[in-house]
Amino acid sequence: MTITNQDELDGLKEIGRVVANVMQSMAKALEPGMTTRELDEIGRAHLEREGAVSAPEVTYCFPGATCISVNEEVAHGIPGDRILAAGDLVNIDVSASKNGYFADTGATFRMPPVRPSLDQLCRDGRRAMQLGIAQVGHDKPLAGIGKAIGRFASERGYTLIRNLASHGVGRALHEEPAEIATWPTCGDRRRMHRGLVLTVEPFLSRGGNWATNGDDDWTLYSQPPAPVVQYEHTVVATDRGAIIVTLPG
Ligand code: CO
Ligand code: CO
Repeated sequence: MTITNQDELDGLKEIGRVVANVMQSMAKALEPGMTTRELDEIGRAHLEREGAVSAPEVTYCFPGATCISVNEEVAHGIPGDRILAAGDLVNIDVSASKNGYFADTGATFRMPPVRPSLDQLCRDGRRAMQLGIAQVGHDKPLAGIGKAIGRFASERGYTLIRNLASHGVGRALHEEPAEIATWPTCGDRRRMHRGLVLTVEPFLSRGGNWATNGDDDWTLYSQPPAPVVQYEHTVVATDRGAIIVTLPG
C-alpha cells in the first residue's frame, strides 16, 4: 500500500507494534524441551489479546499462527511436534492484520549455548537488514536494497538465499511491488515512491543459495544445507528515508 495520511500511518504502526511484541514474547519464552507448537500457541494467544489475526493463516491457510523455522529450515516452518534444543537457531516470523492493516516481522534467535560463528551470523544478518533499510526512500531504486546487502555479504564471505524476496505489504500480506531482491540483480528499474510500504528481509547464510521444498507443502530448506538467518522489518519509504513500523512498544 501507499500511505497518504496520518490515520493510515497510525493504523499500520499499531499492527507493526503488535507483531513486534508478539515476536519478542515468543523469543522470551524459548526454552529447551518445548515444542514449536507450544511456542506458536504463545504467539496465537498474544495476537488474540491484541485483537489481531494471523496473516499467513487467513491468507494462505498456513497451518499455524506464526512461522517457526529451526536450524536447517529457512522459512515457513510449520509449528508442530519438533522439540527445541539447546544450541538451536530459531527463526520466528510473525505477520498479522488488525483493522485492515498488515505488518510482517521476523528474526532468528539463538538458544544458548551457541557457537561463536553462529552468533556472528546472527549479528551480521541483522546488519544486512539494516543496510537494506538504509537504501529505502522516495525515488530510490528498489534494486539498491539488494545491491547494498550483496556488497556486505560478499565482503564477509556470506551467501544470500536468492529465491526468497522482500515484498510490498500493508493492506494484504503480499502486495505490489513483488519480488524485491535482497541480493544483487540486473534490470530492475522500479523505484520507490513516498508512502510505499514494504518489507526488507534478507536471508544471510554460510553457504546456502536457495530455499527448496522438503516433505511438506510449506517448510523451505537451505540448498546446499547451511545455517541461515533472516531478519525482517516492515518499513515506509519517505523523503527522509525509511520509517520502521515493526518496533516493539
Ligand atoms: Co515475515
Ligand atoms: Co515478509
